[in-house]
Amino acid sequence: MDPLTTSLVKSSFKSIGATPGGENAFAQSFYAILFAARPEIRQYFPAAMDLQRDRLMRAVGYVVERLDSPETVLPLLAQLGRDHRKYDISDDHYEAVGEALVTALAGLAGPELWTDETERAWRSAVELIVTTMTDAAHGEPGPPTWVGTVLNHRRVLDDLAIVRLQLDQPMPYAPGQYVSVQIHSRPKMWRYFSFATPPNSDRIVEFHVRRVSGGWVSPAIIGETAVGDTWLLGAPLGGVGVWQNPERSQLMIAEGTGIAPLRAQLMNMPRLDGNPPTHLFYGGTYPYDHYDLDVLWALSRTSPWLTVVPVAENRDNPWWFPGISTVPAGMHERVTGQIGRVVAEYADWADHDIQVVGAPSMIRTTKYRLMAAGIDSRDIHHDPLY
Ligand SMILES: Cc1cc2nc3c(=O)[nH]c(=O)nc-3n(C[C@H](O)[C@H](O)[C@H](O)COP(=O)(O)OP(=O)(O)OC[C@H]3O[C@@H](n4cnc5c(N)ncnc54)[C@H](O)[C@@H]3O)c2cc1C
Ligand code: HEM
Repeated sequence: MDPLTTSLVKSSFKSIGATPGGENAFAQSFYAILFAARPEIRQYFPAAMDLQRDRLMRAVGYVVERLDSPETVLPLLAQLGRDHRKYDISDDHYEAVGEALVTALAGLAGPELWTDETERAWRSAVELIVTTMTDAAHGEPGPPTWVGTVLNHRRVLDDLAIVRLQLDQPMPYAPGQYVSVQIHSRPKMWRYFSFATPPNSDRIVEFHVRRVSGGWVSPAIIGETAVGDTWLLGAPLGGVGVWQNPERSQLMIAEGTGIAPLRAQLMNMPRLDGNPPTHLFYGGTYPYDHYDLDVLWALSRTSPWLTVVPVAENRDNPWWFPGISTVPAGMHERVTGQIGRVVAEYADWADHDIQVVGAPSMIRTTKYRLMAAGIDSRDIHHDPLY
């Protein structure tokens, strides 16, 4: 897309976002238009759409903001297109979605902002989004979904389970990627989970799932999963966290189950030629949150290039937690504090490739702390859909 078209799309989207209700109004209007024009499309979406309604909108916003960096957005759209094969939709549905996007935007913008030029610019942006997704979907020889059978479900904390499944066929994913998952008891409620292990010849994958109170899917996974259950998995997504430059030192920062995609990469690194110095900061509220430390310590014992620094906001476990969280000899002591601040004050991280994985608020705070410490934001990576 030429620079003028790109800037028209970006500026009009910004103005629309600034109107009362902004993103929410866009989502509401988009779905109302789409389902009125093509009622049969409603069946693809979950019955309760209030929570997830903004996901498609957020993706459009993300793409629009980065239209001038095709190297970032085109691979993401291609992955989304391959992933969307799980819905069993057709090109004709994409046309309807594109049309609903344009109509919703025009309605929100109003006649003053929505000139013919703006409409033309938006139509070419939508065309780019749709063709990138559909081309990738058509060009993908692999299956649209994989079936995983639960082999093991281990509750490592009251609200956290490690689930291992065996896939029905090999899935070519890179350590650091995630996948969208549908469990049997929650039809149409796809949720993302990160692979916690690199691919292996037995087609066994591992996920670390934390319960979100009041959530639809995670409480069911923690509380109801049984050996033999089958899950449906879409095509792998993401890549921000995937190994980029073996020449540069690595800084990895994770909180909670955010450790999963990082430990998958760490487990894969010894298989590669030469490893750069790598620091992993593993955050939690209490020491007991470091449920994966034993594995990370085991990795660091055989990988001299790896330093694991556990960080907890509280020095001690709460009184009701049974057991003591001790650090074995030779391993880095726990640091107490807020993870972003601890990392930023620990060392000068200039010239490192930095990955941050965790809740959106933790990603924002950590990024802010690092940038305040002089780190170039281009060196800080996190997945866009978080
Ligand atoms: C790229 C990516 C990778 C992910 N990887 C993992 C993973 O490896 N392990 C894992 O456990 N989860 C992971 N998640 C989160 C996961 O996809 C679900 O969002 C989460 O399990 C909640 O789903 P739910 O159906 O239980 O809650 P929902 O029914 O979707 O949400 C219920 C309520 O909780 C809020 N909410 C949703 N998620 C969170 C959250 N994380 N913290 C606080 N409030 C929340 C919602 O806004 C809503 O109000 C990942 C998310 C993304 C975007
Ligand atoms: C314009 C191109 C599109 C973009 C950028 C887009 C983007 C997204 C994103 C980011 C999500 C959330 C993550 C996911 O489940 O993969 C999503 C979900 C979804 N998309 Fe799309 N999509 C597009 C087109 C379509 C089309 C044509 C359909 C067909 C009906 C469709 C149906 C769905 C459904 C059913 C969901 C699940 C929603 C939910 O879980 O609530 N999408 N889309």
